[in-house]
Amino acid sequence: MASKQSVTIVKLKKMRQDGEPIAMVTAYDYPSARLAEQAGVDMLLVGDSLGNVVLGYDSTIPVTLEDMVYHSRSVARGAEHTFIVADMPFMTYHGSLDETLRGVRRLMQEGHAHAVKMEGGAEIADTVAAVVRAGVPVLGHIGLTPQSVNQLGGYRIQGKDARDARRLLEDAKALQEAGAFGIVLELVTEAVAAEITKALDIPTIGIGAGRGCSGQVLVFHDLVKYTDDYREKRFVKTFADIGDQIRTGISDYVKEVKSGAFPAEQHVFAAEEGVTQSLYGKTERKVGVTS
Ligand code: KIV
Repeated sequence: MASKQSVTIVKLKKMRQDGEPIAMVTAYDYPSARLAEQAGVDMLLVGDSLGNVVLGYDSTIPVTLEDMVYHSRSVARGAEHTFIVADMPFMTYHGSLDETLRGVRRLMQEGHAHAVKMEGGAEIADTVAAVVRAGVPVLGHIGLTPQSVNQLGGYRIQGKDARDARRLLEDAKALQEAGAFGIVLELVTEAVAAEITKALDIPTIGIGAGRGCSGQVLVFHDLVKYTDDYREKRFVKTFADIGDQIRTGISDYVKEVKSGAFPAEQHVFAAEEGVTQSLYGKTERKVGVTS
């Protein structure tokens, strides 16, 4: 598939310099990607949040490289003009560099992503640098890093005290130094995220990190309430309620199938006059009579 994205890392850098906010949203399949592209997002993230919102896991840890490649490819088919970043899933970039580059290669060649995202700070800077050297744009991700949820002890806000804030700032600088083109700041206190943004040349994309970031990212399913059991999250604003609309639509369909109201005259196809007679002889069968 040819890469026709109109947003590039050069454009993103310029947007950051000009103070133009960057709008990013996750997408996991062809229709969500198409809708997001039509709506004018700057970047799509094929996030491993896929595990939670699409595959029904309770964390991102079970998500595999195979899952990411499959979903990234569907997204790329739906959004030919948008910059697509795909997540490197759990433990696919902590072993040998060969293994990391194999994963990156699959996301780019088979998943048709334009860039990859990796969770972690200074400790993965060498890996980020190696991937960038291979010609692949890398988006960093610090703060709450869901792949390390068991080590972090839960989905906690990061950067609450001075020590934590310093660590985040150092991690952000190490990622910039390693060549990352941007950094996602997840669940970071607003003042700390703003300071990190000021200290960097590359854009920061916040999720639960306040108003001082260069852009924002939200999970598609949160943004439009595409779930049956939506839990309010302080950092999310829901802009639509499609879960409710889908449930209502399907329940109306079930009612009409049961009552016989669907399909109606306008949903059926007529055969030529006399067709049923030719099938069954002189006695024409009534529609709906099966024996
Ligand atoms: O996987 C994901 O959706 C993410 C966002 C929350 C930034 O990493």
